[in-house]
Amino acid sequence: MRAASHKPGFSTRAIHQGYDPQSHGGALVPPVYQTATYAFASVEYGAACFAGEQAGHVYSRISNPTLALLEQRMASLEGAEAGLALASGMGAITSTLWTLLRPGDELIVGETLYGCTFAFLHHGIGEFGVKIRHVDLNDLAALEAAITPQTRMIYFETPANPNMHLVDIPAVVGVARRHELLVTVDNTYCTPYLQRPLELGADLVVHSATKYLSGHGDLTAGMVLGRRALIERIRLQGLKDMTGAVLSAQDAALLMRGLKTLALRMERHCSNALRVAQFLERQAQIEVIRYPGLSSFPQFGLAQRQMRLPGGMIAFELKGGQQAGRRFMNALQVFSRAVSLGDAESLAQHPASMTHSSYTAQERAEHGISEGLVRLSVGLEDIEDLLADLGQALRASV
Ligand SMILES: Cc1ncc(COP(=O)(O)O)c(C=O)c1O
Repeated sequence: MRAASHKPGFSTRAIHQGYDPQSHGGALVPPVYQTATYAFASVEYGAACFAGEQAGHVYSRISNPTLALLEQRMASLEGAEAGLALASGMGAITSTLWTLLRPGDELIVGETLYGCTFAFLHHGIGEFGVKIRHVDLNDLAALEAAITPQTRMIYFETPANPNMHLVDIPAVVGVARRHELLVTVDNTYCTPYLQRPLELGADLVVHSATKYLSGHGDLTAGMVLGRRALIERIRLQGLKDMTGAVLSAQDAALLMRGLKTLALRMERHCSNALRVAQFLERQAQIEVIRYPGLSSFPQFGLAQRQMRLPGGMIAFELKGGQQAGRRFMNALQVFSRAVSLGDAESLAQHPASMTHSSYTAQERAEHGISEGLVRLSVGLEDIEDLLADLGQALRASV
């Protein structure tokens, strides 16, 4: 390592942050603390831990040394003071919102959200007295008009799952600051390698770490990152007492293994996705394609400002609509027909009947999710094989 004043780069921190092998018998890879509980040296010590007067682990639903390392590493990558690891992205989102919102509060959210987030808002917390208002967050006048004295937070995804709509993070933060509102960004599609909302003024970032962060489709996990005081509230209320959505130590270790190659994988996801998007854009069967790296993307300028690279996700529609989309998807051979995203394997799914089937058809129409939309998660395979697979599936779709 170089002089103390030099801040190590992204991948160096993704591999080394917070761990010294010499403190662990020289073990190069951090040990997995496979324990549910912790022995107290004395009753007084245990009581002081419970009273918050003494830092220490007391029970693995609250904290665990393996998770603590993951949390420290992810906080460093997102530019956060602190982080909290949870059992899934939904565990992170629900633990955060149950902690920070109360009956009577209002939550402003972006127009399009992942299906289970939408379901949680409308059929979960929304039924317990929190009012949900969807707003086009790129219309700052509409955002101002939607804010009331009860508004507590603005919450959104950028790019939004599944239609790729972007939100200008600093612009929304500017409005939120004037009204003292919290801003929470779901950064799942980007990861901190492509976009760091906290550095742009957001208060909290949530992730489905099931996706790119772990990167191998072999676990579910979630993260929330931000100021320590907020994160510790979410740990001690949302996680400990409300959801209990605790991540296992084994999965935390697997997730840290994934993080080591995050930068490498994101570079390849993005270069493959750009080639796929450029290929699809030229094909006669394509009606519309949305990928932030194409100059035809309606928010291309914002994507260039806000995202280091355009990501690995693509949304498109075929001229033949939903039927053609079904034929296309059934013909795929290298791409798997599967939900989730961010895996080494390329995946294709149909949001209207899969990830966003928790919306009604009318809600999908209102929230910009067309029935014929196909969503691709472009993986790490050889680009020639991906293009050949898409080409033959497009021919089979007509
Ligand atoms: C943008 C986004 N946020 C949150 C989630 C929920 O994450 P998990 O499936 O890990 O609970 C997903 C899952 O697909 C997602 O795509």
